[in-house]
Amino acid sequence: MTAPANAVALAREHRRLERLMQRHQRALVDARFDWAAQRWRRYRERLAAHIEVEESWLAEAETQGWPLRWPVRVYRLEHRRILELAAAVAHELEAAPRARTADFRIALIEREKTLKGVLEHHHAREEQDLYRHFAKPPAR
Ligand SMILES: [Fe+2]
Ligand SMILES: [Fe+2]
Repeated sequence: MTAPANAVALAREHRRLERLMQRHQRALVDARFDWAAQRWRRYRERLAAHIEVEESWLAEAETQGWPLRWPVRVYRLEHRRILELAAAVAHELEAAPRARTADFRIALIEREKTLKGVLEHHHAREEQDLYRHFAKPPAR
């Protein structure tokens, strides 16, 4: 996919990612496991592409010494945590036989709630701080 490369497009992508997660969770609640897994794969692809663009901005921020409110390492650590949590959900989803139980689905949604919490803070941080410094594309 072509990744968005400006602040408005990146903020819009946050909302899209939230909607993708909702669609995945709807499929999960309906016990439509193949759909839930497929939607999660799509979610992770978009998430990874989004983070890749942001990482290029973070490299620029570091090189140029942007006056960020939070250090670059905070953003990077959150990215790593977000990707790890999303991968853990994917791993659980692949365990198809276990995923057939209601208890398993509840546990998975709880795990996704942790990811949602991290994302909520992370997105707010980016939109209030990092994205405000996007004046021009990073040098390639
Ligand atoms: Fe991010
Ligand atoms: Fe983001």
